[in-house]
Amino acid sequence: MSRVAYVNGLYVPHAEAAVHVEDRGYQFADGVYEVCEVRGGRMVDERRHMERLQRSLRELRIVMPMSLAALGVVLRETIRRNRVREGMVYLQVTRGVARRDHYFPAPDTPPSIVVTARSTDAAKAAAAAANGAAIITVPDNRWERVDIKTVGLLPNVLAKQAAKEAGAREAWFVRDGVVTEGGSTNAWIVTAAGAIITRPADSGILRGITRTVLFEVANRLGLTVEERGFTLEEAFAAREAFISSASNVVVPIVTIDGKTIGDGKPGPVARSLRDSFYNVAEFARK
Ligand code: PDD
Repeated sequence: MSRVAYVNGLYVPHAEAAVHVEDRGYQFADGVYEVCEVRGGRMVDERRHMERLQRSLRELRIVMPMSLAALGVVLRETIRRNRVREGMVYLQVTRGVARRDHYFPAPDTPPSIVVTARSTDAAKAAAAAANGAAIITVPDNRWERVDIKTVGLLPNVLAKQAAKEAGAREAWFVRDGVVTEGGSTNAWIVTAAGAIITRPADSGILRGITRTVLFEVANRLGLTVEERGFTLEEAFAAREAFISSASNVVVPIVTIDGKTIGDGKPGPVARSLRDSFYNVAEFARK
């Protein structure tokens, strides 16, 4: 089956899908994105992802390219046309096409919008979660507004490539000795005393939708989450560590910079959070 992408009002063959060379996303990374999991053909937490999209756009003063309802139709149609049951839908909005000039283009310049969807291997993801993953750490050299989900991801790309070359799944950014987040995931530990810790999302990290839902999952399981920064030293001494994102849900971490975490196996807290996630996540209609 051939894949289809939505580009500025048209559904086109994925292999031919293209934006203009003067698109500000291409020229300046002047755009934002969202990634939503698709499960059983339905988007997971669409409402929260769309709320975050609107916030990212507001922060950058890019206008919403269409109504939320219309955008929902495009997302669903892209999922449907690509016959995705288990996978991801990707949405990108940029400030549009204009002659390259740093200043914002004329206010009537329409934002560009691209939506793609693809299937993922659910069995492979489950196996990764069952085995646990390795992390490396890198200095957090990103700008201060990483709370905005922009397509400017060069530090994340370099960090994740370094992780891959070291045989790890993810890189954790560390600033002043404190873990901020992963290249494309939020970071968590469970201390020796059993406290679940993740950094506050006021600044310095992206407020992950999975992270938000996991607070509620923990609550329902009778577990409490402490929102505070944790040091790399605390992470090395942790009983468990794990990462969260729309594409990973929860993946337990078994080594950090080659040091074994806990007993070196996925821990019970990470496992139970993962197992209960879909009892709390919202499923959109098809
Ligand atoms: N990444 N932190 C960063 C830097 C991220 O890029 C992401 C998401 C997260 C987790 O957010 P959420 O739970 O809403 O997925 C945290 C997406 C999946 C990506 O870039 O592919």
